[in-house]
Amino acid sequence: MTARPWWQSSVLYQIYPWSFQDSDGDGIGDLRGIATRLDYLVDLGVHAIWLSPIFPSPMADFGYDVAEYCDIDRRFGTLADFDALLASAHARGLKLLLDFVPNHSSDQHPWFVESRSSRDSPKRDWYIWRDPAADGGPPNNWISDFGGPAWTYDARTEQYYSHAFLKEQPDLNWRNPELRAAMLDVLRFWFARGVDGFRIDVLWHIVKHADFPDNPINPGWDPAMGEMHRVFQLHSTDQPEVHDIAADMRAIADAFGREGDDRVLIGEIYLPVERLMRYYGLAGEGVHLPFNFQLIDAAWDARSLARMIAEYEAALPPGGWPNWVLGNHDRPRSATKRGPAQARVAAMLLLTLRGTPTLYYGDELGMTDGVIPPDRVRDPRELREPGLGLGRDPVRTPMPWDDSPHAGFTRGEPWLPLGGDWRERNVAAEADDPHSMLALHRALLSLRRAIPALAVGAIRLLEAEGDVLAYEREQDGERIVVALNLGHDAAPVALPAGQPILSTLRGPLPSSAPSVLRPDEGLILKVDASA
Ligand code: GLC
Repeated sequence: MTARPWWQSSVLYQIYPWSFQDSDGDGIGDLRGIATRLDYLVDLGVHAIWLSPIFPSPMADFGYDVAEYCDIDRRFGTLADFDALLASAHARGLKLLLDFVPNHSSDQHPWFVESRSSRDSPKRDWYIWRDPAADGGPPNNWISDFGGPAWTYDARTEQYYSHAFLKEQPDLNWRNPELRAAMLDVLRFWFARGVDGFRIDVLWHIVKHADFPDNPINPGWDPAMGEMHRVFQLHSTDQPEVHDIAADMRAIADAFGREGDDRVLIGEIYLPVERLMRYYGLAGEGVHLPFNFQLIDAAWDARSLARMIAEYEAALPPGGWPNWVLGNHDRPRSATKRGPAQARVAAMLLLTLRGTPTLYYGDELGMTDGVIPPDRVRDPRELREPGLGLGRDPVRTPMPWDDSPHAGFTRGEPWLPLGGDWRERNVAAEADDPHSMLALHRALLSLRRAIPALAVGAIRLLEAEGDVLAYEREQDGERIVVALNLGHDAAPVALPAGQPILSTLRGPLPSSAPSVLRPDEGLILKVDASA
């Protein structure tokens, strides 16, 4: 029997490199800055970090528009800085994952410059070019995720190219074998340098229907949803051919892995659970972890959460390892959605469910969405469809380290304003408070490290009544119960006899299993062997 791969018992931590720590005073985070904060992450207790893109980029979409896949953007540092960061992470026992962006490159990438130079260019077919429709308009009705047509006309060669996102992010053509080989070589380049895995950007987007049919119109569309939802992305995403490509990526990851040094692939996929599961591969040859984003938008009531957990667990293929995400650089923060008290309950949920959790930087402090004055908006999503609440700048504000000017993030002017409550809510202040959100995260992460039942044990739902959600985790006879009060009133609960070991609330722990959870209380209980 082979040992369990490290990523199953790990907690991943997402760093948004623009906003974590600046070292050179330009107001933008960088790799040397991150390196100075690794000890913070070790103390926090996470096992691996994932860096959003750090590659050379014109930053039309903040690095998700890559102009060179095998180098580092000078804003963030150099390849030497990267190697140093990786070595320091590894020296501390931290794994490091990069962000692979396979659906599109930047329009400044030399491949695209060459591709658009002429219809006969050897790289023409590395991107997706189509003739205009009969009326001269775009080839079909596909809409960019950032609004507007997913096609831009190139006057010089009189064809349209496709872009699922900005026109500065032309879609790569994964049906072209040379492009496919070149992109797979990118994975090899970084694996050979020692990275422990990748988060794969919009994996379900990377192959389009070969005939480019119109997408079906969404009859329930409302402009407030954003223009992309005007059609269903039936033909522009989630095509069967994607799985073959994911399997190629997986084979590369597996070839670089060694026992105890497995490499992991995590797919960014926003799809309903049944379709999400397919990304594990029919025989486990897909990505290791198709991201499970359900908690982000989950209705906050016990029955729907219980149903969601049960259905997800039941849908997992044999050998498929679960995972959970509460926040990321694209979605509103947990503390904004649920308020400070329930954000603590949500953190306990994230870190005690079965599966690999991903924690978004700053959520461990209870950071809320920042307020971005109109003249400081940077996100193209907001600039293109303003006022719908789709902008992502509010969740990308600088990490507040202390209450010094600019929160210890930079000695210059931060690229985005600091979040509103950074003077009270920062690492230094929370590190001194044994009941802070940071302290709660440290406690949860240290319990996960100490108790195998919490890290990798089986899960069994116990109760989903009113505001109370309770479940048990079990491993080798050791039983841990997690009971969460999702409401602001006290709630009765039926718990087995046991010893409370952590509460989301301040003050002393109950001395034995209580029959009532206090308002906003999440409680972890070690079940008595006799119970
Ligand atoms: C992913 C990223 C998002 C980016 C988009 C296009 O969804 O998470 O930030 O804008 O892909 O690359």
